[in-house]
Amino acid sequence: MLGRLNHVAIAVRDAEKAAKIYGAAFGAEISAAVPLPEHGVITVFVTLPNTKIEFIQPIGEASPISKFIERNADGGIHHICYDVPDIIAARDRLIAEGARVLGDGVPRIGAHGKPVLFLHPKDFSGALVEIEQA
Ligand code: CO
Repeated sequence: MLGRLNHVAIAVRDAEKAAKIYGAAFGAEISAAVPLPEHGVITVFVTLPNTKIEFIQPIGEASPISKFIERNADGGIHHICYDVPDIIAARDRLIAEGARVLGDGVPRIGAHGKPVLFLHPKDFSGALVEIEQA
């Protein structure tokens, strides 16, 4: 049920600026900035051979990552995202095993145009987990 590591997300004040060093120093492929108003963030992806780094920047004070940025002024690792073959089946099994799904439990469309859900960090060793339909 658990697929590959889709991405590691790092929350920052300025996603384009944060991604730049990966392009300049590592020669990595950097995406354009993509605003996701429904999620309250702007994203910039760094593509690696085996996964991606997702820089996320808050849009406005109501953004779900605003408080995280207040606590981590220099940025910090915010969540990890795993592929799952069937997000509804994964959600139902996670709930049956006692994991908490954040929000109303209905998948939303994420940065790659695919459905995503977030899982409570207290159920995953302190790490916020995102699952994405592969
Ligand atoms: Co993500």
